[in-house]
Amino acid sequence: MKNFIFHNPVKIIFGKDQISKIAQEIPANARVLMTYGKGSIFKNGVYDQVKQALAGIELHEFGGIEPNPRYETLMKAVEIIHQNKLTFILAVGGGSVIDGSKFIAAAALYNGDPWDFLSKDIKVKAALPLGSILTLPATGSEMNGNSVVTRESSRQKMAFSSPLVYPQFSVMDPQTTLSLPWVQTANGIADTWIHVTEQYLTYPQNAPLNDRLAEGILKTLIEEAQKVLEDPNNYETRANLMWCSTMALNGLLSTGVYTDWATHQIGHELTALHGLDHALTLTIIFPGLMRMMKIEKREKLLQYAERVWNITQGSDDEKIEAGIEMTDQLFRNLGLKTRLSEHQITKEDIQYITDRFNKNGPNKLGEKGLITPHTINSILLSRL
Ligand code: NZQ
Ligand code: ZN
Repeated sequence: MKNFIFHNPVKIIFGKDQISKIAQEIPANARVLMTYGKGSIFKNGVYDQVKQALAGIELHEFGGIEPNPRYETLMKAVEIIHQNKLTFILAVGGGSVIDGSKFIAAAALYNGDPWDFLSKDIKVKAALPLGSILTLPATGSEMNGNSVVTRESSRQKMAFSSPLVYPQFSVMDPQTTLSLPWVQTANGIADTWIHVTEQYLTYPQNAPLNDRLAEGILKTLIEEAQKVLEDPNNYETRANLMWCSTMALNGLLSTGVYTDWATHQIGHELTALHGLDHALTLTIIFPGLMRMMKIEKREKLLQYAERVWNITQGSDDEKIEAGIEMTDQLFRNLGLKTRLSEHQITKEDIQYITDRFNKNGPNKLGEKGLITPHTINSILLSRL
């Protein structure tokens, strides 16, 4: 195991009817900016719950944060913060709203162009405090310090991380997820799955607890995915899916180990250039990347096939292939596409992505830095 420091300060307030508790978490004299997306919170009653809970607190609003939040949009919120001298951000929505709000929190206290946090790896030195109310289990943003932002003008999707943008608290009421369109529920399961596998499917690192935790989340997801397909309105199933997504990316699974993240990094290019939902980029790339890195990831892929998918028959190679194929099937059973051609993405588009990696980097991805632009090209071609 590698040395590590694990410090996750996010207070999770989980369960039915918990949104009312936010008043106890936000200072009474705070000047709050409530951020949200394109309007789902008006339809499912979450907006009204927040307004009620914060009656008496100065509350400003910034709506319209889009999926894959845009720098150009978020900078408008920064202006509102400056104009009104706001002191606290309350993000209400999915990963895009929470990620966008983390960016706003850091940008509000930065003197230069805040895109520097993403493009130049400039460290965040200060950020406004923020809290979140999660309505879409997928990203883990409610309990981590990551933020992914898209810059429309340059068609770039990039990430930054900082301990200063962890939410101070996150409310997770599974009832809020009952209004999700099916595709977002499915996306959330796939995203959670890949967060686990990016940390787990590497090579043996003598971290058996991490392995068992990862396998526990994956096996739970297989069971709960089936349940939510059969009964999407079941509160208990929704609650379990929500907790899985948080546990998948709150830092715990990465303690002491080297991680992969290549599937995500390649996926961000597909979203930036072709507008695919985040999760749909992952369902396409994952099977191809695993097959391409079969030798390097051999022992863990075998462990994955045996322990997660209970595959006991056949040679090691056959088991590995069956494990990858079962994953592809899991995504397809949820109604998610797993091929580039299903999104009209062509060989020429793949070449363009490869050229962007060659030109802008990164050019050594994966847990050992073995995935080059050439490998990326082969992975994408295998998923046409
Ligand atoms: O905008 P509204 O109207 O709220 O609608 C949203 C949006 O259209 C809707 N939605 C959310 N909650 C709902 C709901 N509709 C009905 N009922 C509800 N309860 O769902 C749509 C998608 O929302 P979005 O926030 O974009 O989805 P998700 O949570 O999957 O977030 C995706 C973003 O997070 C980033 C992705 O790259 C992408 O930009 N990620 C962030 C990570 C992190 N912070 O650690 C890690 C991830 O790997 C990921 O990269
Ligand atoms: Zn993800």
